[in-house]
Amino acid sequence: MYLRKNSASFAEEEQNELISLLPDLSQKTVLELASGIGRLTRHLSSRARHLTSIDFISHFVEKNRRDHAACLNVDWVCADVMHLELEKHSLDVVFFNWLLMYLEDSEMKVLMQKISDWLRPGGYLFFRESCALKTARGKKSDYYVTYRSLSDYDKLIQEHFVLIREGHIQAYVNHFADPFQCFWLGQKG
Ligand SMILES: C[S@@+](CC[C@H](N)C(=O)[O-])C[C@H]1O[C@@H](n2cnc3c(N)ncnc32)[C@H](O)[C@@H]1O
Repeated sequence: MYLRKNSASFAEEEQNELISLLPDLSQKTVLELASGIGRLTRHLSSRARHLTSIDFISHFVEKNRRDHAACLNVDWVCADVMHLELEKHSLDVVFFNWLLMYLEDSEMKVLMQKISDWLRPGGYLFFRESCALKTARGKKSDYYVTYRSLSDYDKLIQEHFVLIREGHIQAYVNHFADPFQCFWLGQKG
């Protein structure tokens, strides 16, 4: 079946796959970074005890808040993740879907250290990024995107976490023969 990347059925398949890759969220305090308009917020909210959902574009945050007003366990925050200050050991799971590709190498390293500090021992970090065979930088209209190699992210996550699992987003492989949508799941020791 041919599906467009923005079709509702493809989005549902991709979102269900992403959620299936996460550890059990029940009774967990979860942080969603770079949540955009909240494509994944309701999935996370319905599984977690509490969710904080963060993006730095205020109209995305407002749409997310409006569309998911029925999700009573969510706090929406408009903030740059690089300026976020949270209590040490206050989270069980940190999740993001497409964020590091918008950060410089130095920012990404700072963020990893912060996430490691925020997570409780045994807590999880899950992220998904668009990757490339060799690291390459591209210019979108008014910002840069870095498509890093898988080994860049392997190295990054293993500086702070035990690597539990990594792999491709199968929906992209099946529908678009794209093996470069990749995820990592790490656990804090
Ligand atoms: C491709 S979108 C992904 C949105 C959402 N995770 C999803 O899967 O639909 C990337 C998001 O990252 C957010 N973002 C990028 N850099 C950020 C930063 N430094 N702080 C907060 N949000 C950021 C953008 O505003 C945008 O909503």
